[in-house]
Amino acid sequence: MDMKILILNGPNLNLLGKREPTIYGGDTFESYLITLKESYPKLDISYFQSNSEGEIIDKIHEVGFFIDGIILNAGAYTHTSLAIADAIAAITTPVIEVHISNVFARESARHHSFLAKNCRGSISGFGLKSYKLAIEALSGE
Ligand code: DQA
Repeated sequence: MDMKILILNGPNLNLLGKREPTIYGGDTFESYLITLKESYPKLDISYFQSNSEGEIIDKIHEVGFFIDGIILNAGAYTHTSLAIADAIAAITTPVIEVHISNVFARESARHHSFLAKNCRGSISGFGLKSYKLAIEALSGE
């Protein structure tokens, strides 16, 4: 059976490709997702993005008891949201926290993650490749 993985992107990540390209690069997530899916044909990779904290929590609840992994870039909610941290703690699916930029090389407000302690691990600073590294961590590929 195909391993089911959800990539869950939070606020402002719908603007990848346009948003601060010197930090986040010039590619849209949609185009990167096509490449990712082609690289892992045996994995069932789905994608959801929302700018709303509640919708991110609802999605974690919806899939978090039956899929095999969630790759979560919660954007700025990483640094603010005890509610998303609680949602991750509530589910059984492992979650990997990812960041495109190296959050530790940026402002100190980005150095703390409310989510990290409830995640299987964190990957930060490898551009969009952070998502690929998370897939490899989850799938062993
Ligand atoms: C980010 C880092 C966060 O600090 C920021 O708020 C984002 C994107 C990243 O992928 O590098 O929106 O999660």
